[in-house]
Amino acid sequence: MKRLVVALGIAAAAAMVPAQAQEPLRIGVVASFSGPFADYGEQIEGGMKAWLKQNGGTVAGRKVELLVRDTTGPAPEVAKRLAQELVVRDKVDFLAGFGLTPEALAVAPVATQAKTPMVIMNAATSVITTRSPYAVRFSMTLPQISAPMGTWAVKNDIKRVYTLVADYGPGIDSETWFSKFFKDGGGEIVGSVRVPLKGPEFAPFIQRIKDAKPDAVFVFVPAGELGIAFMKSFQERGLKAAGIKVIATGDLTDDHVIDAMGDPVLGIINTFHYSAAHDSPENKAFLKAFAEANPSAGRPNFMAVAGYDGMRAIAEVVKGLGGKMDADKAMELFKQMKFESPRGPISIDPATRDIVQTVYVRRVERRDGHLYNIEFDKFPDFKDPAK
Ligand code: PHB
Repeated sequence: MKRLVVALGIAAAAAMVPAQAQEPLRIGVVASFSGPFADYGEQIEGGMKAWLKQNGGTVAGRKVELLVRDTTGPAPEVAKRLAQELVVRDKVDFLAGFGLTPEALAVAPVATQAKTPMVIMNAATSVITTRSPYAVRFSMTLPQISAPMGTWAVKNDIKRVYTLVADYGPGIDSETWFSKFFKDGGGEIVGSVRVPLKGPEFAPFIQRIKDAKPDAVFVFVPAGELGIAFMKSFQERGLKAAGIKVIATGDLTDDHVIDAMGDPVLGIINTFHYSAAHDSPENKAFLKAFAEANPSAGRPNFMAVAGYDGMRAIAEVVKGLGGKMDADKAMELFKQMKFESPRGPISIDPATRDIVQTVYVRRVERRDGHLYNIEFDKFPDFKDPAK
């Protein structure tokens, strides 16, 4: 008799909750957590955890489970295999993460085939979102960030520029769209160099730039070690002393490493979508939640914010679906997404599934003994000009 009562109790409880609501919400996080780009995974996952910490770990009655996978990248083949395992074996509801362009490109066909939404939290080559109807991006694109730098530079007495970019998708996008807007405004590109993604020796490139005597060098390198190496060489070869300025995308003066770069970066003008110094209640709440969820991670950067916003967007989509997953309906909800991020207002362009946001012009300054990118001008609601 007792057993029957218990069984009835369970049946009644089960009847009250829709079947799927009891299943955890599974999010496969694919990014690099070891090797030269280990910070990317840590920042992205750290941002997702910050949102979960702030909002509780449950969405529409479903407990959120992050299935974190290390690509050890850049390793597109590994990323693809991990994504396949996540959709086939682990049956994840969403794929998320993606620090590096080659890995995002490798996974896009997997998302299409499995009909699994793919939430991009960094990889920033423009073309990525065209490779799957299930891709949506909460980070940035390099054309979106670089074009405003071209416009700003030429309006501010920088007329002759040498470009230096990492030789892969985002670098080529950056070179192309900076140069286009800069030349449209009347500027002249006096030289261009593309450096290998893996461990370039900067000295010879820097010497060539010095010899060309431009007003400035425009730089895109992926956030982290490459930027540190570039600045070291720039300093050693005396380009600052020769009156050559650095202008850049904010990847160079990444919040996570900027303090370690020290005085040589002071005064660098750069364009970007997020600064840890952005003055808003949303950013203050984000910084607090990030520190609580990741006590030893240091200062969060743009990748952490994209992880945080991407996690929020996933949660809003799942709520909109009443907890019941449907990939095509999920994509329709992603396309309507619009909210106040720690970086400022963001929305998704329904035609491209790419992010629309404010691109800020910033200058590196010292505040309370630490280096920060201080915003002083902006290009509001700026879309990726490449699409
Ligand atoms: C990319 O691989 O798409 C990428 C990586 C690092 C960045 C920006 C873009 O800072």
